[in-house]
Amino acid sequence: MVDENNQELFNKLVAGLKDLMPLPTTVTAIIKLTKDPNSDLKEIVYNLEKDQAMVSRVLKLANSSYYGFSRQIKTISHAVVCLGYNTIKNMALTVSTYPMFKKGIVSYALEKGAIFKHSYAVAVGARIIANKAGHPNPEEVYVMGLLHDVGKLVLDEQAKDKFINVIRLFSKGSITFLEAEEQVLGFNHGEIGSKVAEKWNLSDEIVETIRFHHHPSDASPNNKSVHMVHLSDVIVEMMGIGLGYDGLSYELNEASFEILGLKNSCMEELMVKIMDEMQDEANGAIFSDEDSSK
Ligand SMILES: [Fe+2]
Ligand SMILES: [Fe+2]
Repeated sequence: MVDENNQELFNKLVAGLKDLMPLPTTVTAIIKLTKDPNSDLKEIVYNLEKDQAMVSRVLKLANSSYYGFSRQIKTISHAVVCLGYNTIKNMALTVSTYPMFKKGIVSYALEKGAIFKHSYAVAVGARIIANKAGHPNPEEVYVMGLLHDVGKLVLDEQAKDKFINVIRLFSKGSITFLEAEEQVLGFNHGEIGSKVAEKWNLSDEIVETIRFHHHPSDASPNNKSVHMVHLSDVIVEMMGIGLGYDGLSYELNEASFEILGLKNSCMEELMVKIMDEMQDEANGAIFSDEDSSK
């Protein structure tokens, strides 16, 4: 819940999101098409093909070893046949948000690239958990993992001046980082992050998962994705991937294991799988050719 006294700051940040976090029009169009049951999904191919840089990145993702196709996928039409429209939409979203996550996040003491590494690891872990726990759309959970901390980007851009007080309060050692955010700002990075997903017209499940990724029990009981992302986030923090000031200050919700039908002892196995997938050369190559000046 956003603190009444800070409603003004929250509203100001929300109002500025459109300019601060714009999505390419191609991706906005694709999201709209996949949400509307009456739309002609062939238009997705048409829309994507207008952006050749995106086409080549989506094809790299489609050809990564995770999907394990024996023949190379050379066109978007072929990728759609092999992977479906929803996966293609999620891939377009992945490659178009990458530049936003590449920079450093001063407020959280995350050096250049650290937030992307963290988010990417959480996405990979969330997808592994989603497959294990039988989520019908693991690719969607991957996107939730990728975007779970998007609120940190907004706070770093728009509330840097207030952050010194968050750090000061947190460093006293009596409260969690999330509580320090809430006390100083009146809301946490999950709440403002969920507004980004709302602006981008993403699904309610994504919006809710971003909002409650540190408090999964506050989400609706039928939303299991939030537990998947929560668990992956905690595991990735334990692995020390992309830690800032707030690293290791979040609590694990033990109930998440039971809700997902997993044993607490699976954490080690999940860590190994995340490392393996992250070291996958094809995955590395997907992002390595990006324009580093952005
Ligand atoms: Fe977070
Ligand atoms: Fe995180």
